[in-house]
Amino acid sequence: MPASPRLYADSAVVDEVSPLLAGRLVHGVTTNPTILARGGRTAQDIPALYATWEEQGAREIFFQATGTTEEALETRAREILALGDLAVVKVPATATGFPVASRLAHEGHPVLLTAVYAVPQALAAAAAGIRYIAPYLGRLRDAGHDGLALIRAMQEQCEGSATDVLAASIRSPQDLVDLRAAGIPFLTANPAVLRDALVCEASDAAAADFEAAAG
Ligand code: G3P
Repeated sequence: MPASPRLYADSAVVDEVSPLLAGRLVHGVTTNPTILARGGRTAQDIPALYATWEEQGAREIFFQATGTTEEALETRAREILALGDLAVVKVPATATGFPVASRLAHEGHPVLLTAVYAVPQALAAAAAGIRYIAPYLGRLRDAGHDGLALIRAMQEQCEGSATDVLAASIRSPQDLVDLRAAGIPFLTANPAVLRDALVCEASDAAAADFEAAAG
């Protein structure tokens, strides 16, 4: 087994993330522009979200840089890193994003290369010393791939390097378990999926029996 597992909340809905942070159930929070939009937020809200989650005990907070040129992407990435020590900047795994991610990693900054779909991208990220890569299990499956096998192969490419796989697009508690069994230590999922992972009808029934016996 690899490193001890970590769960992250993949959401920008503060009311859903806060209980997970307060319960010390997640290590941090991951977002991207789509997640911000779904939560009714924009890039303008990033500093306030960072401050909120820092105060609530997040140990890592991920925001994504955007921009269609290396210069624009790098400028935005540096603004995100300047939020504070908990900030991890997400950069897309594109021909534009890769050199930006690699340069920032070389300077010692925490970078997550996101939307990693192909195994050679994992090798290139590990060679560049990029802290995390994020493959999307659900979206790989949507595209007809064996997502779990591909992510396992990416993990193999990262072994012995400073790069960890942080899997995303996780849509059920079983996905969490399958990824962990495939050797993926770091997992980000929507708060609803994480909440579902905590409960089981039989556990609730057992707890109800204990309460009844306790009078
Ligand atoms: O972090 C990736 C996530 O936003 C994608 O999830 O389920 O929309 O593919 P999904």
